[in-house]
Amino acid sequence: MNNFTFYSPTEFVFGKETDNNVGSLCRRYGAKRVLVVYGGQSAKKSGLLDRVFASLKAEGLDYVELGGIQPNPTDGKVYEGIELVRKENADFVLAVGGGSVIDTAKAICAGVPYDGDFWDFFICKATIQAALPVAVVLTIPAAGSEGSGNAVITREATLQKLGIKAKMLLRPKFAVMNPELTFTLPAWQTASGIADMMAHILERYLSNNADIFIGERLCEGTLLAIMDAAPRVMANPCDYGARANIMWSGMVAHNDTCSCGMDEDWSCHAIEHELSALYNVTHGAGLAVMFPAFLTYMAKHHPAKVRQLAVRVFGVSPEGKTDEQIALEGVARMKAFFKDVLQLPVTLGELGIENPDIATLVCKLHENKGNPFGFYYSLTPEITEEIYRLAM
Ligand code: NZQ
Ligand code: ZN
Repeated sequence: MNNFTFYSPTEFVFGKETDNNVGSLCRRYGAKRVLVVYGGQSAKKSGLLDRVFASLKAEGLDYVELGGIQPNPTDGKVYEGIELVRKENADFVLAVGGGSVIDTAKAICAGVPYDGDFWDFFICKATIQAALPVAVVLTIPAAGSEGSGNAVITREATLQKLGIKAKMLLRPKFAVMNPELTFTLPAWQTASGIADMMAHILERYLSNNADIFIGERLCEGTLLAIMDAAPRVMANPCDYGARANIMWSGMVAHNDTCSCGMDEDWSCHAIEHELSALYNVTHGAGLAVMFPAFLTYMAKHHPAKVRQLAVRVFGVSPEGKTDEQIALEGVARMKAFFKDVLQLPVTLGELGIENPDIATLVCKLHENKGNPFGFYYSLTPEITEEIYRLAM
């Protein structure tokens, strides 16, 4: 187990009607003039946005708005937000939405106090030294950005989808999590979110460290809880208990609780981010395609953790089988869960990418992540090409 510091100062306010408290929470965290960031139309349509504005007004807080954030958010809205905050003298950013909205809000928070181009942080040309405070009203459990210090943005001009991590500065001050807000999610978004949170756990589980019992068991337990609740939310979108478990699991999956003292991998996310950047696919659905392909490769070349996952989480009986066989059986069960329970695509074709430009995907992947890259297993372009092919 590695040395670590774990700093997760976000106040989580979880449960029914908690979104009514957002004004007083903003005030408590020192807000005076709030930039409210939101997405396309879901928060408007549900009435959530009006309730948020009313709650801010009730506390005597001013606000300005930045709406229209699209899934797989791009740099344009970040520049717009930075300019707006500076012009309007906002001192606090409130994201009302999912990962795309929250990540845009975080990038704005990092960009405002910085003299240069905010994209410098994403290409490692500069490190974040200061940031405006950010807070969240979560409407889709998936990315886990409500508890993470990460943000992922796509540079439109170059189609680079890259992330930043600033554990001390970009973790939200508070995150309001009302599972009732997720009742309106379409099945596709619910399912993609579940695949994403499972992937966040798996990226951590694929660790080569010794003596990480607590991390492994937290990962396995959270995966099992998600897989218990998933059929219920798919069958009944208004099942509060199941929605609540899924919502909290999405946070637990990604605020680092499950990976203290462990080297994390994140290779499969990098592999998927190239798909989102080039084909604008839904992130979680892209992971439902790429994770089984990635684990299929690992079953042959480095099966240890895939085998363990198969036995402990997917209930594969190991008797009389090789490690590779056990691992592959686990991957087949995971794939069946994505396909049969979540109704997600499990091949690139099913994802709508009939003729993937694998050469470009591989080239951009290694340009962005290095050659080789990966912690669980060192990935060269030959290997990542094979992994993309395994997803066809
Ligand atoms: O735009 P609106 O109309 O709000 O619709 C959204 C959007 O179309 C809809 N939606 C959200 N809440 C809803 C709802 N529809 C009905 N009812 C509701 N309550 O859902 C769609 C997807 O929203 P988005 O924010 O894109 O989803 P998600 O939370 O999955 O975020 C995905 C983004 O997060 C990044 C991904 O790469 C992707 O860009 N990630 C961020 C991470 C982080 N910051 O730590 C880690 C992740 O691995 C991930 O990479
Ligand atoms: Zn993800």
